[in-house]
Amino acid sequence: MPLLLAIESSCDETAAAVVRDGHEVLSSAVATQIEIHRKFGGVVPELASRNHVVDAVPVVRDALAAAGVTLGDLDALAVTQGPGLVGALLVGLQVAKALAFVHDKPLITVHHLAGHLHGVFLHRPDEPRPAGPAFPHVALCVSGGHTALYRVEAPEVDASTRIRLLAQTRDDAAGEAFDKVSRMLGLGYPGGPIIEQRALGGDPRAHRFSLPRFKDDAPFDFSFSGLKTAVLTVIQHTGRLPEGQALTNLLASFQQAAVDQLVERTCAVARQQGVADVQIAGGVASNRCLRETMAAALAAEGVTLHVPPPRYCTDNAAMIAGAADFAAARVLAGPPAGRRADLALNARPTWPLASASP
Ligand code: KG4
Ligand code: ZN
Repeated sequence: MPLLLAIESSCDETAAAVVRDGHEVLSSAVATQIEIHRKFGGVVPELASRNHVVDAVPVVRDALAAAGVTLGDLDALAVTQGPGLVGALLVGLQVAKALAFVHDKPLITVHHLAGHLHGVFLHRPDEPRPAGPAFPHVALCVSGGHTALYRVEAPEVDASTRIRLLAQTRDDAAGEAFDKVSRMLGLGYPGGPIIEQRALGGDPRAHRFSLPRFKDDAPFDFSFSGLKTAVLTVIQHTGRLPEGQALTNLLASFQQAAVDQLVERTCAVARQQGVADVQIAGGVASNRCLRETMAAALAAEGVTLHVPPPRYCTDNAAMIAGAADFAAARVLAGPPAGRRADLALNARPTWPLASASP
């Protein structure tokens, strides 16, 4: 029954959570820096690091208090080691190392995307435990920094033998495209939730944006920079920023084109891999248009879609604690000497989750 506290600070959210057994979320505290970065239209790395320093200890305190546990009650600590902004990662890592040292607890490091892929298995104590996708399944990881399709063989996804990269973006991530289009139109940051909201009531067929096609050996790869340029071309053609219904239609058309690409590639890969289950993870997975279009398209092929509730799609520490559970159980079952945290651990700002399929 491992009880873990995890810390996540890879981008602009400082988060801490207490999770039991890898799935039961006793608390999940998130301090967001959205307001701080909003006026710059995106995350400013140095400001992110400084604010993690301010928020880290209060967020850990909140998570412990909300779960009704003390640091002494924990079996282990977990922390996001990468990928992400190096300064931001280092703050979470230092706090986790200090707590592990002072309280003599093992410290498990987690890949941020392995965390996202675990979000679909989490639940609160008063909610039923979700069945989650069966193994193997196909996972679409779609966030501000990543857009990739993986074949996931087993629950512990850190080991590269248990996960295979099947397709990835060749340029912008999907969330990045939402953020850039929002900035281009002067709508603010982060673009995803703003565009989703402002596209409501728009005609998604007002603008026809074409799907990128690749005729090489990676035909399921994604590309979003052409779509971003297509939106810019519409703006330039009009000669001014669109307003009213014209803006709503442009946003609905952009969102639909982004969603169509994600859905088309995911369905093709699920078919190719012959899996019965697919999951979507990461911040963009909270988009309702994506969730509904993907569920319908996969259902038509007899494939079941699994998506975490929005609170476990965007960055949080519960997913990090959950993903750390396997390694924590191994460490706790091993010799006492192996339980001491490695205080030489460093951040890994660039860290592929899996190597491309052979
Ligand atoms: O996973 P996440 O919280 O952080 C990263 O690891 O990147 O994802 C943040 C990204 C941002 O680009 C944001 O615009 C996007 O997810 N996002 C959305 C929605 N909510 C967040 N994109 C589309 N629709 C949404 N509702
Ligand atoms: Zn993330």
